[in-house]
Amino acid sequence: MPGIRGPSEYSQEPPRDPCFKVNAKASSPFFFEPFNAEPPRSALVSSYVTPVHLFYKRNHGPIPIVDHIEKSSSSFILHLHYSVAVTGLIDNPKMLFIKDIRSLPKYNVTATLQCAGNRRTAMSKVRNVRGVGWDVSAIGNAVWGGAKLADVLELLGIPKLTGFTTLGGRHVEFVSVDRCKEENGGPYKASIPLSQATNPDADVLLAYEMNGEILNRDHGFPLRVVVPGVIGARSVKWLDSINLLAEECQGFFMQKDYKMFPPSVNWDNINWSSRRPQMDFPVQSAICSLEDVQMVRPGKVSIKGYAVSGGGRGIERVDISMDGGKSWVEASRTQKPGRDYISEHNSSDKWAWVLFEATFDVSQSTEVIAKAVDSAANVQPENVESVWNLRGVLNTSWHRVLLRLGHSNL
Ligand code: MTE
Repeated sequence: MPGIRGPSEYSQEPPRDPCFKVNAKASSPFFFEPFNAEPPRSALVSSYVTPVHLFYKRNHGPIPIVDHIEKSSSSFILHLHYSVAVTGLIDNPKMLFIKDIRSLPKYNVTATLQCAGNRRTAMSKVRNVRGVGWDVSAIGNAVWGGAKLADVLELLGIPKLTGFTTLGGRHVEFVSVDRCKEENGGPYKASIPLSQATNPDADVLLAYEMNGEILNRDHGFPLRVVVPGVIGARSVKWLDSINLLAEECQGFFMQKDYKMFPPSVNWDNINWSSRRPQMDFPVQSAICSLEDVQMVRPGKVSIKGYAVSGGGRGIERVDISMDGGKSWVEASRTQKPGRDYISEHNSSDKWAWVLFEATFDVSQSTEVIAKAVDSAANVQPENVESVWNLRGVLNTSWHRVLLRLGHSNL
């Protein structure tokens, strides 16, 4: 693995913003388990593009280290002894260097990354679930800069819009170097279908930039995959190799995790192979301007949050209820400041969240609810019970907060 290695302990983790809510048991100075953290809710709605230092972090092992970096400035790397091996069912296996990837056209894709476990804590209140306890902020929206995977594969002789290689490759596996205990100390890996990887409109990137800056270590330096519209687990960080496979990746995170089971499945009767690995994320929304229980004074209250759907589907509507779901008012939606958002229009960012806002006069304590509808008319489910699953993934139920009249902290 030229130039990049995964340490086995946590003494060389990068510095992080102190505002994060850290979902780890151990404490400073060094964490002895993967660093998983989300920013406060309010930070999410302060800007359409999430600043890098406020972007949630989801790791399954210590952060890898790249040897031999020479930088002339924060945004220009002079020498990076790093390459990605492309192997498997491909006629011309090759080592790709950063210069090869940078020589391809660069695309900036605004895409929301969301962990499948976002909002797990609320699901665990129904019944116990296993997994990192996320509130509503295991999500962020960034401008990812890099080469399209479709261009990279074409460089290696696999044409655009191809479902299989001449040697029978149908899936593209991404392998990292981090050491994950779920993989018995082996690397994180995942795959996507070759038809998605070779489709330029799917915008799958090998990204080397995040919000115009070189990727930082937490988010995958020097190179990560970004699979827009798909759960974050498939956007492999610290890319080490790309393999063309006949079947999808057999790694833990594809086969024994990040699958959605029905509420009847428990740890005694689970059959992992009975379900597909989750890919697209379903329609989701959350209120970020209020905590779960929020004290307010009588008067105007602004309800702000995000809504997003998977697979490139737009957000058709965000409904807000101020009476526990009896009546609904449509919130305004925006992406880029000062511009109207139109779902599915070519002026909108198809892979990105929309921010919503509605203002109400509040004169009594009440339950506030947000629900979004996507461009395929998919709606968030009313109750978390109906989507409960033992791993606590994909909690997309209506988001509810309680407003109590009293001394406001707004
Ligand atoms: N890639 C590697 N190599 N190791 C990981 O632990 N976590 C995945 C994905 N890619 C992970 C990874 C998961 S579950 C998510 S949600 C996203 O990265 C999180 O990306 P971020 O930390 O940049 O927000």
